[in-house]
Amino acid sequence: MKHRTIIEPFKIKVVEPLPMRTVEERERILAEVGYNLFGLHAADVTFDFLTDSGTSAMSAEQWGAMMVADESYAGSRSFYRFEQVVQRVTGYRHVIPTHQGRAAEHLLFSLRCKPGQLVPSNNHFDTTRANLEQLGVEAVDLVCAEGRDPTLDHPFKGNMDVGRLEAFLLEHRGRVPFVMMTITNNTGGGQPVSLENLRAVSSTCKAHGIPLLLDACRFAENAWFIKVREPGQGERSARDIARDVFATADGCLVSAKKDGLVNIGGFIALREDSWLGDLRNKLILTEGFPTYGGLAARDLEALAVGLDEVLDERYLAYREGVTRYVADGLSRCGVPTMRPPGGHAVYIDARALLPHIPAHEFPAQALAIELFRAEGIRSCEIGSVMFGRTPDGGFRPAALELVRLALPRRVYTQAHFDYVLEGIADIAARREQLRGVRITYEPPFLRHFTARFAPV
Ligand code: F0G
Repeated sequence: MKHRTIIEPFKIKVVEPLPMRTVEERERILAEVGYNLFGLHAADVTFDFLTDSGTSAMSAEQWGAMMVADESYAGSRSFYRFEQVVQRVTGYRHVIPTHQGRAAEHLLFSLRCKPGQLVPSNNHFDTTRANLEQLGVEAVDLVCAEGRDPTLDHPFKGNMDVGRLEAFLLEHRGRVPFVMMTITNNTGGGQPVSLENLRAVSSTCKAHGIPLLLDACRFAENAWFIKVREPGQGERSARDIARDVFATADGCLVSAKKDGLVNIGGFIALREDSWLGDLRNKLILTEGFPTYGGLAARDLEALAVGLDEVLDERYLAYREGVTRYVADGLSRCGVPTMRPPGGHAVYIDARALLPHIPAHEFPAQALAIELFRAEGIRSCEIGSVMFGRTPDGGFRPAALELVRLALPRRVYTQAHFDYVLEGIADIAARREQLRGVRITYEPPFLRHFTARFAPV
């Protein structure tokens, strides 16, 4: 093969300046926001790896489609175009637009769940968990054992433990309204689920007469991993694989802000019509008329184009290549990451990098602060700041101290990533000098969004 480099499969038509601040400016800004990166103005962030959600760069074709959108309140042409694409990509007949993923969750859960029920998943994402729990429903994680070991190299660490699912459905007979599978498994590090595992979960659910729903916001990345990692799938198209994945389930909830390649949007798609009437009625109450569901028609147009573009295999190969490039680059400079890299993010193991900072001084938060101070990189702590508070306000170290670098789609080039890697290598070389932080203010729940810190 002549070329080793995986190039960006696009050229750039519209650009925006990359914000650049000096280290001194960033030190002042950090003190002002109490060392909480959620408090930053994005204009002060050079590389924004806070999330891959809603941060994609859209294509010329998507922007063009937005211009020709039909903004009619009812029966918009743009809705039918969007509906057709979702039907073609998923194979499901019924399509309900929502303004984003959690709106879809709230809508469906509030109609299908009752207090005291239980909903298993490989791992629930925060918002599916929270939307279930606020209805009095227990959200249960049944990811496979491999998925719980951050250092283990395994192709499908997002898989469900089917044995545990079977036992769970027997034990809680009559109390499980549906089973969920998150593809890719965000909470577990963006790890994929194999087609084989989805089929096994599907037949277990069928045997118990329980519907299976996919939380499918990264369905294209998951399909790509199946193509390159699952025996017998390598010759098939990502599009066909995605269809097979959707065929294992009865419907899906999708935050289109990820693999929809749009900045806002979501949907529910269902095979059968039995839940449809209630859903549409509640949609009208909370989101909007069923042919726009909380979105402008131009958003539906952009999404219709995005859902097709994301299945382009040159794009998917590039997407996987970028994540791997960043993870491998970090390993080369001695920065341990969760293995193997998932689809949308690289997770730095801050406990392994900074063993001299104890859990109660928040090593992952300390690293996230230094990434911004020294290099203008915004990341997200997923460690004891996020998970270390006990219900009575005490402290219990989180299982893992991670810093997530979530990679926006089509936004940063390889030169950007090389620059980022040089910066992180420099931080890693002086890791012993990094100090922990203490909390000076915290709210009673979800403290990571608004807590304030001070260096120790
Ligand atoms: N499900 C998964 C697996 C997600 O990753 C997200 C969002 C949602 C549902 C909710 O979708 O934001 O459109 O309401 N994940 C973002 C992230 C926020 O940064 O991982 P939403």
